[in-house]
Amino acid sequence: MTLPPVPDHSPLHLPETLKKALAGVIDPELRLPITELGMVESLEQDGEQVTVRILLTVAACPLRDTLVSDTEAALLSVPGIEDVRVELGVMSTEQRAALKEQLRPAHRQGNPFARADSLTQVYAVASGKGGVGKSTVTVNLAAALAARGLKVGIIDADVYGFSVPALMGLVHDGETTTPTRVDEMILPVVAYGVKVISIGMFVSGNQAIAWRGPMLHRALEQFLTDVYFGDLDVLFLDLPPGTGDMAISVAQLLPSAQLLVVTTPQVAAADVAERAGAIAASTGQKIAGVVENMSWLEQPDGTRLELFGSGGGEAVATRLSATVGTEVALLGQVPLAVELREGGDAGRPVVLSNPQSPASAALTAVAAQLAARPRGLAGRPLGVSVTPMSVEW
Ligand SMILES: Nc1ncnc2c1ncn2[C@@H]1O[C@H](COP(=O)(O)OP(=O)(O)OP(=O)(O)O)[C@@H](O)[C@H]1O
Ligand SMILES: [Mg+2]
Repeated sequence: MTLPPVPDHSPLHLPETLKKALAGVIDPELRLPITELGMVESLEQDGEQVTVRILLTVAACPLRDTLVSDTEAALLSVPGIEDVRVELGVMSTEQRAALKEQLRPAHRQGNPFARADSLTQVYAVASGKGGVGKSTVTVNLAAALAARGLKVGIIDADVYGFSVPALMGLVHDGETTTPTRVDEMILPVVAYGVKVISIGMFVSGNQAIAWRGPMLHRALEQFLTDVYFGDLDVLFLDLPPGTGDMAISVAQLLPSAQLLVVTTPQVAAADVAERAGAIAASTGQKIAGVVENMSWLEQPDGTRLELFGSGGGEAVATRLSATVGTEVALLGQVPLAVELREGGDAGRPVVLSNPQSPASAALTAVAAQLAARPRGLAGRPLGVSVTPMSVEW
């Protein structure tokens, strides 16, 4: 008589398999695996059922639902696991202190992006004139680079005229998503994979801000030191128009920031754009290139209507090349496009909502050129010390 095979009652999975699956769950705000953040308090398996207990950094974590669904999906992807229960707790003061300690090394030395060994490419998006499309270009480049898998952040440095939260879909019914705070550490809000911080997240409704230069400087400094961006490949700063206080603060606080100059094809706009770029020459900042926006409007018959004239972008690039003494390239020409404005109004960058449009193609091509630049110190001006500027407030 042959006995039937003995059923295998050994645990279906080693805890290691489940832990590995959990390591793929990224905390939506801190952008690190939850297993590395001390957020997994316990993990128990009973046959095909798994119960996991996760500790949130703060009880009011706005992205807890994402965390729960990501955890469920990760564990359910393990063959043989059919039922996942996620229990939520909150970190104790000691656990939170340990987490901060773990995240803080760079922070303890202040602004991590000003350190000589920072590998983050910082692009300050500037223009002479207002309304030429800096913010639109910023959010689309950021979204395009994040979609390519880069770690990207945006600081909305336009304190009076902040517009990045709306462009990134972070304003609902007039209220802007507020960042989570872990004690004095501020976590940027993540939209389309991009870590975003804006003064608009700290004021209610459409409140106006009337700050003088020193407060603007302090706001940028605080964004750079108190906001936990973690390791970024690229950080964009959306600047206010002109050559004002904020441009000077950027030069002082982020000497390695490169200027990305946005202009329209109009000669008058190009003249002021050149002035905005020329400030870089006096502070030792590099110019990453020029983006011409609103270049033309494509007609139904395929012809291009050059509403704002032509040649502005090329002219700025040529003149800035002469001013700084190295080649400044025209990185792209973005046509006028209804979908670009609509994307802005709907809070979804056009490179994501309508990637086929000619405007998206132009923006994606600019993003590709930035992505191709080596991360890190290559290409930076070496040994250039920024002369401390005397700023009259
Ligand atoms: N290529 C384009 N086609 C159509 N509309 C555009 C284009 N670029 C920008 N816009 C629209 O023009 C307006 C101004 O753009 P945006 O806010 O990006 O400019 P800005 O330079 O950041 O302005 P500010 O100087 O006020 O900060 C927005 O309504 C935007 O949707
Ligand atoms: Mg703007």
